[in-house]
Amino acid sequence: MTQTQLDDLVHVGSGADAAWWRSAVIYQIYPRSWADGNGDGIGDLPGITSRLPYLRDLGVDAVWLSPFYVSPQADAGYDVADYRDVDPIFGTLVDADTLLATAHDLGLKIMVDLVPNHSSDEHPWFKAALAAGPGSPEREHYVFRDGLGPNGDLPPNNWLCVFGGAAWTRVSSEAGSGDTKGQWYLHLFDPKQPDFNWDNPKVRDEFEDVLKFWLDRGVDGFRVDVANALIKAAGLPDWDEPLHILGDAVGVPHDHHGKKPPMWDQDGVHEVYLAWRRILNSYNPIDAEGYSSDSDRILCAEAWVESPERLSRYVRQDEMHQAFNFEFLQAQWRAGDLRDAVTKSLAAADSVGAPTTWVLSNHDVVRHASRLGLPVGPKRPNGIGIDDPQPDAALGLRRARAATALMLALPGSSYLYQGEELGLPDSTDMPDEFRQDPTWARSGHTERGRDGCRVPMPWEGDRPSYGFGPSDRTWLPQPASYRALAVDRQVDVEGSTLELYRALLAARRENGLGTGSLSLLEGYSRDVVALVNESAAGTRVVVITNLGAEPVAVPPGTTMLVSSGPLTLSGTVPTDTTVWLTAQP
Ligand code: NOJ
Ligand code: CA
Repeated sequence: MTQTQLDDLVHVGSGADAAWWRSAVIYQIYPRSWADGNGDGIGDLPGITSRLPYLRDLGVDAVWLSPFYVSPQADAGYDVADYRDVDPIFGTLVDADTLLATAHDLGLKIMVDLVPNHSSDEHPWFKAALAAGPGSPEREHYVFRDGLGPNGDLPPNNWLCVFGGAAWTRVSSEAGSGDTKGQWYLHLFDPKQPDFNWDNPKVRDEFEDVLKFWLDRGVDGFRVDVANALIKAAGLPDWDEPLHILGDAVGVPHDHHGKKPPMWDQDGVHEVYLAWRRILNSYNPIDAEGYSSDSDRILCAEAWVESPERLSRYVRQDEMHQAFNFEFLQAQWRAGDLRDAVTKSLAAADSVGAPTTWVLSNHDVVRHASRLGLPVGPKRPNGIGIDDPQPDAALGLRRARAATALMLALPGSSYLYQGEELGLPDSTDMPDEFRQDPTWARSGHTERGRDGCRVPMPWEGDRPSYGFGPSDRTWLPQPASYRALAVDRQVDVEGSTLELYRALLAARRENGLGTGSLSLLEGYSRDVVALVNESAAGTRVVVITNLGAEPVAVPPGTTMLVSSGPLTLSGTVPTDTTVWLTAQP
């Protein structure tokens, strides 16, 4: 490695004293599936609190909790009926406060999920809208329209909903009458998730108040659900293309043939986030005495948009702090695709001075230990069932470990999804009668949906429910393979995936990788991703991910820090393996 090679910087690091969110590793907890405190088979807040020391020991900085608010659970809590209270299945507000206090005592920050595009149809505002009828101010909280055709029998436009079927549902003309002759309401997701009307200032006021409610309770940030959807194009014009919400991860191409979908990524959404950022900043004013960026409260956009450039608009100086970058998650297991995802993402984020984020798994996609065990090239399925082609589990895990090791070496913030630190695969043999994701029914049983990545965590291999809770109940069945992957089977076991994650997180912290500067290294085969991350303090970590069949020699003068798998007998890096090496400055 020569200085000339290092001149080819793809990213200049933000430096050691950068704000926490520029480099944080954030662990996603899916509350129904992490830890069950009371044995009803559904995870809950007291269960989470009792297990938080595990996350401190893992070495993450923060936790993002998927929704735990009052909800009929039509979309696993992404259908909120009360934004200011905890659903009884998860606990109480007091439990939320205890969770926050415990996390803070352990040095962990807590982010909660905010779902502003839609509520539940059981939200008091929606019930009031139905009762009040057409033309009322109550209906203006949502997107109601008269139908087309002589009797209004046709939906107001041709939009489809993300889970399958029409994006409009017709209501009765008179509340409680049971007829279906009334107006139609818009739902980009399930019919039980009516979209709010963000042109109505009352909706804006309400959400600003909800933000303050949780900020006052001490949360450190918000993950903002479908942040790209709040504003729709004026006139709600027809759209003949598919909806493209989850990108290639579920097999939908990004390309809209140059046209702009009228329901996604409208420029008007940014006004909303400018206002939110002002609120967050007011909790830690930058010009106040004693300001510390360690107390920054943050916003992270979930926005499936067309390009890293469009995504960077959500993280301009006065808007959100972070946005999920799905480029890496969507990249196929090819060195060129991974390099492209890394360089394009960093360039786009750098152009607005924001950190990028990285993620490989979440509650909406097939876990990467399974995804990467599928053939390279074809579109990825939205869920895998028993009669679908099955992933190669060993290959998937090996690649997943290499992919994670590459991701955690990159500057920026990384998101981990619960259980990936155990190398959990998706459940791919779940009997269909257990499925709860609305996708399965609404797609006419053609798309399995997301239940396979949402199965309860295994903590102790020999206990009922593998230690998920005090009983043998689990809301989704756990695959038999989870026993050997349980936490207690991996703690302190050399070579286990859990120990690999701990080693990576510790070395990442020690070597300042999250805030380092990145360059690509030349001179390797095109099947290899080779880069160097140089910290503000001058430490250099060389990272090599070998996707080719030929083993790769370790550069001379380097010392092995971590390896995602065993090296060959002669000390070279075999296929589907990532190594971190310290290089002499
Ligand atoms: C994105 C969430 O991650 C997903 O789980 C949910 O179904 C949709 N938004 C709708 O809220
Ligand atoms: Ca429970």
